[in-house]
Amino acid sequence: MGTAPNRVKAEEKSSPPRPQVVYAFYMSNGATGLSRRNGLAGPAAKGVDRVLISKTRLQRRVKELAAQLSVEYANGEVVCVGALNGVICFLADLVREMDIPAPVELVHVDRFIDEDGHTVEMPNPFRESLRGRDVLIVEDIVDTGVTLKLLEEKVLAEKPASLKVCTLLDKPAHRIVEVQVDYVGFSIDPVFVVGYGLDYEGFYRNLPFVGVVDSAVWPPALLERPKFDT
Ligand code: IMP
Repeated sequence: MGTAPNRVKAEEKSSPPRPQVVYAFYMSNGATGLSRRNGLAGPAAKGVDRVLISKTRLQRRVKELAAQLSVEYANGEVVCVGALNGVICFLADLVREMDIPAPVELVHVDRFIDEDGHTVEMPNPFRESLRGRDVLIVEDIVDTGVTLKLLEEKVLAEKPASLKVCTLLDKPAHRIVEVQVDYVGFSIDPVFVVGYGLDYEGFYRNLPFVGVVDSAVWPPALLERPKFDT
């Protein structure tokens, strides 16, 4: 029998050197809304100009939506279909607040820009059968509507009993295709937002709030339109 490795007592552990940089701006600037109370205010939020929707508002709204959905589907279950990666935070929080059976089906959406600038692909089929079931598409954000339209078509091809859409954020001013959204967390102006699952170049998903990226840090041209490869 091997001997158990000696446990290092907590107080004996050498603590890692603390970063010397003090993010004073992010910790103290009331105008931006970025503060320790709001969630992350240090390196993870660097480049974020201001908080658009605080952690508290997100939590409150997610609970409200979950309560509505629990009533809507009270007599059965609803399969929640979410497109990775942006939906991770919202979907995880939403289903945990829903008081009904809510199996989760995650799909990958591959996006690329074609001549029209707006083509998306979804090669992965669903793993769960959606036939004859109530399905709820859960989106992080509906912007042009192209992704949602494609996802809807894919779900409808599976012949579900019903299909509804719930999105955390909606940017109706950017719409280029007509889509119906049944549940909206927040309708926002057409600004580029990050946090709570939403990214810029893969970063910021872990922010607990939704924020607006600093246009001085990132080129404005990139901020005007969403990036097309989440
Ligand atoms: P749509 O197909 O134009 O509606 O775009 C939907 C997808 O684009 C979302 O699922 C996001 O991944 C991404 N997207 C749109 N707007 C934003 C934004 O403001 N921030 C981050 N991602 C965005």
